[in-house]
Amino acid sequence: MLKRIGPIQIKDRHRHLLAHIRKNVGRLLLGSICSLMISAATAAMAYLIRPVMDDIFVQKDAQRLAVLPVVIIFVFLINGLGRYGQEYFMNWVGEDIIRRLRNQLYDRIQDLPLAFFQRERTGTLMSRITNDVNILKSLVSSAVSSSVRDTFTIIFLTGVIFYQNWRMAIAAFVVLPLAFWPIFELGRRVRRVSTGCQEAMADLNAFLHETFAGNKIVKAFNMQQHEKERFFERTRRLFRLEIKGVVIRSLSSPIMEFFGGLAIAFVIWYGGSEVLSGKTTPGTFISFLASVLLLYDPVKKLSYLNNALQQGLAAADRVYDIIEAQSDIQDPAQPQSMRKGAHDVRFEQVYFSYGDKPVLKGIDLTAGHGRTLALVGMSGGGKTTLVNLVPRFFDITSGRICIDGIDIRDYRVADLRNEIAVVTQDPILFNETVRDNIAYGNPSADDEAITAAARAAYAHEFILRFPKGYDTYIGELGSHLSGGEKQRLCIARALLKNAPILILDEATSSLDTEAEALVQKALENLMRGRTTFVIAHRLSTVAKADQILVVVDGRIVEQGTHEHLLAVKGEYAKLYAMQFASNGNRQ
Ligand SMILES: Nc1ncnc2c1ncn2[C@@H]1O[C@H](COP(=O)(O)OP(=O)(O)O)[C@@H](O)[C@H]1O
Ligand SMILES: [Mg+2]
Repeated sequence: MLKRIGPIQIKDRHRHLLAHIRKNVGRLLLGSICSLMISAATAAMAYLIRPVMDDIFVQKDAQRLAVLPVVIIFVFLINGLGRYGQEYFMNWVGEDIIRRLRNQLYDRIQDLPLAFFQRERTGTLMSRITNDVNILKSLVSSAVSSSVRDTFTIIFLTGVIFYQNWRMAIAAFVVLPLAFWPIFELGRRVRRVSTGCQEAMADLNAFLHETFAGNKIVKAFNMQQHEKERFFERTRRLFRLEIKGVVIRSLSSPIMEFFGGLAIAFVIWYGGSEVLSGKTTPGTFISFLASVLLLYDPVKKLSYLNNALQQGLAAADRVYDIIEAQSDIQDPAQPQSMRKGAHDVRFEQVYFSYGDKPVLKGIDLTAGHGRTLALVGMSGGGKTTLVNLVPRFFDITSGRICIDGIDIRDYRVADLRNEIAVVTQDPILFNETVRDNIAYGNPSADDEAITAAARAAYAHEFILRFPKGYDTYIGELGSHLSGGEKQRLCIARALLKNAPILILDEATSSLDTEAEALVQKALENLMRGRTTFVIAHRLSTVAKADQILVVVDGRIVEQGTHEHLLAVKGEYAKLYAMQFASNGNRQ
C-alpha cells in the first residue's frame, strides 16, 4: 500500500523502520534538544550582529562592549555542546537501528528455505547485511538530526528576519522557494542511481566471494588475467554509476546557490536602498543579511536530506524484500508428535520439480524400521534430490512422504530434522574448534562422547596430530585438511547426533579405498537399528544394503537385493560390470 506524504512516498514497510526508530525515542529526544540548542545559537548569532553594529560601532556604547563578548562566548559554548550531543545521540540511535536491522535480516535469512540460498548469490546476501544496512544508518542518523536541527534553524532565523524588517523579509521569501522544485526533481533521480549503485556493489561482493573461494580453480586454469578483467569491468560500471550519482547530487547545490544568490542580490538592493533612505539602521540590515546567509546552509542541508532519504529508502526496499520473504517450508497449525525410536519412511507417488524442471517422477519406496536402503544410478538421476526431500529441504510437488504413516508436513520442521542425521558429499565444517564441529547441533555432548564419535569415524588419530588437538580451529588448519579427513569429521558429527534416520549422500566419496573400508565398518555400526538412506558410487559399499533402488532419470527402474539385481541382468548389473571393468583396468 502506498501512502503519499509530501513529495516522498512512504510504504508500509517503511513504517517498520519507523518502529525501530520509535524504540529510541528517549535518545532521539535528547538529540533533538541538542539540535535545538544549535538552532537557537545560530539564530542568536545572527540577531547579535545588530547590537554589535548599532550599539558598539555606531552608538559607541562602552557598557555594551563589556557585555556582548561574554554573551557571544556563551552562545558559542551552547552551540558546541549542542553539536557534540547531537552527534553522539543521533549516531547512537543510527548504530542501534543498524544492529537491530542486521539481526532481523540474519534471523530471517537463516529461516529461509534452502532453495533461497541456491537461488541467491552468497555475496549478494552478504551485501544486504553489510552495505545496504549501512546506508540506512546514514539515513537515520544524519537525516533525523538534520531534519530537526535544520528545520528549527530555519524557523528561528526566519523569526529573526521578520523581527528585523518584515517588509524586506517578505521580499526575500518570494524568491527562495523557487529553489525547491529542482531539488525534489533531482531527489527522484538520486534514488534511481543509488539503487543501481547498491546493486552493482552487491554484484561486486558476489564476484569477490566466488573468485576468492574458488581461487584454486582460477589458478589451475590460468584465469587470473580473465578474472582481473572481469573485476575491472565491474569496478568500471560501479564507477560510472557513482559518478552519475555525484553529478546529480552536486547539481542540487549550484542550483540552490544560484537561487540563493538571486535572493541575496535582491536583499542587498532592497535593504541598501532602505538604509540609504534612513528607514533602517545599518546594524539591522547587516543582521538581516547575515540571517539570510545563515538560512542558506540549513535549507541546502534539508535538500540533501531528500537525497539521503531517497538513497535510504532504496536500500530499505532491498532489505525489506528479504525481511518480508516468507519461507514456504512452514510448520503445520496442529503438529503431530514424533514417535520415539526407529522410524519407517515411505514415499507414495512423489513428484518433485525445481521450478518447472521435473526431477522426480512418481517415486514409491519404503524404508522399513532400521533397514538400509541404497540408491544407485548415474549422476543427475535425482538421488540427492530424493533424499533432500526427507528433511524437507524442499517440499514435494505432489504425492506424500510419510514417517510412521504420518505425512512429514504434519510434523514440526524442527522435530522432523531432529530425527535425521545427514552426511553430504561436500564436507562442510565451520570455523570453530574441531570439538565444536563434531558437537555441532549437540552442544551438551561431553568429551567422552565426542572422542568416541571421532574414534568410530576413524578421525581420532589425525585430530590428535593437529597443533591443539580437539581445540584446533578449523580455520587454522585451512587447506591442510584433506577431503577424506573433512569427511570423517562430518561422519563423526553425524554419529554424535545419534538420530534414528540416517542419510549418507556419497559420504565416503573422498576417502581412499583403505580409509573407506575402515569408515565403512563405522558406518555399518552406526546403521544398525537405524533407517538409512545411502547413496554411493562404489557398489561394493551398497552390496550389503537390505534393498537397492536403481534411480534413472527421476524414476526407480529396478529394486531388490544385490544378488537379485545381478541375476536380473538389468541396469544394476550393467553398472556393476562397468565398475568392475574400470577397477580391473586400474589394478
Ligand atoms: N537446486 C537445483 N535447481 C535446479 N535443478 C537442480 C537443482 N539441484 C539439482 N538439480 C537437477 O536435478 C537433477 C537431479 O540432480 P541430483 O538429485 O543432484 O542427482 P544425483 O544426486 O542423482 O546426481 C539434475 O538434472 C540436476 O541438474
Ligand atoms: Mg548427488
